[in-house]
Amino acid sequence: MKFFLDTADVDAIRKANELRMVDGITTNPTLIMKSGKNHREVIGEISKIIKGPISVEGVGLTFDEMVSEAENFVDWIPNAVIKVPMTKEGLRTASHLESRGIPVNVTLVFSPSQALLAAKTGASYVSPFVGRLDDIGQNGMKVVDDIVRIFSNYKFKTEVIVASVRSVSHVVEAAKIGAHIATIPPKIYEEMWNHELTDKGIKKFLDDYKKSKA
Ligand code: E4P
Repeated sequence: MKFFLDTADVDAIRKANELRMVDGITTNPTLIMKSGKNHREVIGEISKIIKGPISVEGVGLTFDEMVSEAENFVDWIPNAVIKVPMTKEGLRTASHLESRGIPVNVTLVFSPSQALLAAKTGASYVSPFVGRLDDIGQNGMKVVDDIVRIFSNYKFKTEVIVASVRSVSHVVEAAKIGAHIATIPPKIYEEMWNHELTDKGIKKFLDDYKKSKA
């Protein structure tokens, strides 16, 4: 399973990447806005740290706008993956960009039928948003389970990125289902490391070491 970080916070990316477990990054306009930097600046900085795929999202909604934004992104950084929304124009753009060898991440996916349509474009990635589904009282992980099951029936090259992750258990559930990737906010990535019994166990071993004979 690949771990992406869902953030545009360069310091958090640098810190999380110290152990070389970060396989890629996803950003969106909200995350870039929170970083306090402009798109080009922050994407450039991230690209110097992470060599894996970096999903970047423009604001165009028409085919021409999205293609032109994508051309800029790939000009700025070599490892850009272009996010397109789950719309007819977005999927038309996805087919076009993939046919030119530019990888696409179809974002804002909330149902198995949307994911199936996205996969048929040859998109490299599809991103179901589990947290936002849970927020409206639906079961986000059930949608991921359906998508992974559908994809495994065929030979789609599309990888499933579990997005809008809100908890460690979302990551664990994604792994149990066999989703290819989870894109994880840095705070939740940090929580994955912790267990009170690990801390307690280390303390006990250190205390006992001090009590043992020299
Ligand atoms: C994914 O690519 C998105 O950036 C992200 O996961 C959205 O998550 P949110 O629902 O927490 O905004």
